[in-house]
Amino acid sequence: MITKTLPKSAVILGAQWGDEGKGKIVDVLSEKFDIVARYAGGHNAGHTVIIEGKKIVLQLIPCGVLRPSCVGVIGNGVVLDPAAFLAEVKKLKDAGLPAHDPAAKQLFISNRAQVILPYHRMIELAAETAPGRQTIGTTRRGIGPAYEDKIHRNGLRVADLLNTSLLRTHINNACHEKNTIAAALFGTEPLDPKQMYEEYVRYAEQIAPYVTDTAELLNKALDNGKSVMFEGAQGALLDIDHGTYPFVTSSNCTSGGAVTGTGVGPTRIGTVIGVSKAYVTRVGEGPFPTEDFGAEGELLARRGNEFGAVTGRPRRCGWLDLPLLRYSNMINSTEWLVVTKMDVMDELAEINVCTTYKVDGKLTDTIPGDIRGFKTIEPVYTTVKGWNASTAGITEYDKLPKLAQEYLEFIAKESGVKIGMISTGPDRAETFSLPEFAAMLA
Ligand code: GDP
Ligand code: IMO
Ligand code: MG
Repeated sequence: MITKTLPKSAVILGAQWGDEGKGKIVDVLSEKFDIVARYAGGHNAGHTVIIEGKKIVLQLIPCGVLRPSCVGVIGNGVVLDPAAFLAEVKKLKDAGLPAHDPAAKQLFISNRAQVILPYHRMIELAAETAPGRQTIGTTRRGIGPAYEDKIHRNGLRVADLLNTSLLRTHINNACHEKNTIAAALFGTEPLDPKQMYEEYVRYAEQIAPYVTDTAELLNKALDNGKSVMFEGAQGALLDIDHGTYPFVTSSNCTSGGAVTGTGVGPTRIGTVIGVSKAYVTRVGEGPFPTEDFGAEGELLARRGNEFGAVTGRPRRCGWLDLPLLRYSNMINSTEWLVVTKMDVMDELAEINVCTTYKVDGKLTDTIPGDIRGFKTIEPVYTTVKGWNASTAGITEYDKLPKLAQEYLEFIAKESGVKIGMISTGPDRAETFSLPEFAAMLA
């Protein structure tokens, strides 16, 4: 048998509605990569890594920087809140991690990333709470309005933030426009452009040493034989194009986003690794066909400690949804799956898995393109016996209970994608690879 070697570049992304444990898996795999690049989203993400009991949650900065050997890149597809970035840099400093210091040349921001400004939060908050508007249940970080300005060609990029005269003009014009809209539509108090300019000039000075042309950095690194991991944020079903629109985020969190969000072309992407919980969770509003409102949903929430890493909101919980996973695998060209949080299911007597949908009495695997379509879905479940034994911290496949192995084999068979890794606890060490994937990593 010819053993495949690990490609020089890999996308790691969420296969569901976010919070699948991407941060943990990126941290584990970053040992094998020279660079980790974020390509979408902003500080709406919360990526938790636990190393020897010590927890760190990163929102904008790629999890790879927790290893001094790994360079972190914030790509052009990201929307950057400078205050959030600087707060995170301080977190790295407090943890004694070298990446915080620009002199270490371990952390870079794209000069083409968009900047989140206070009026983005103002508009989002007003719109989310306005009577008659569809509430999305956003993280209220200004993500949507910042991407709106980007697409409207009205955004401020990091390179522009560093140009003081352009910054002043931009803030004056934008405040005039946003204050007028917010007052007229939502009765919001205006923001002061002078104060905003002074604040953002200070941020600009502090972030300037991290700013570079990251597309050039990444492509040159690949030219020189270095390896790059693309760290996804959110999840496939939150993608602006492919997700459960309008209950989505405002960026392309799917694998295509790694291309546009970094400036590395598709032929340079070696593989795509999807991270999926052994069940499903979702934060915020929107369809969730396999949501469980009963005791089992509560058990998953309790054992999985399912509270948002960013907003602290309780996550809705339910059963693994194979039609959604197959869809996610299709739109991402996923080659490998990582299954996380197996241990959370340890106490379930029975486990439901949705294998297909029923719509108007007919079986279907098609994911509806509209929200009304989701309302007609009836999940069809296969019920399997729970393993009712602890898998917490197990790091060898053979030591997993037989029924847990069968559950994983069922997922691999039904989703059509090989399982590469399994996670049995939140700590970096509570992870293991299956033989084919392990051989590739070796
Ligand atoms: P991300 O956004 O995909 O990086 O995931 P989050 O960090 O928001 O949420 C995942 C949560 O599950 C975090 O609290 C992790 O520490 C935790 N976690 C990750 N993998 C496992 C696992 O295998 N078992 C358990 N019990 N917790 C896990
Ligand atoms: P990570 O990277 C889970 C959800 C929000 C809301 C919707 C839109 O940690 O997996 P936004 O603030 O982005 O406009 O909110 O998307 N959402 C997430 N849910 N994990 C995330 O990130 C999320 N980022 C956004 O709850 O429903
Ligand atoms: Mg998260």
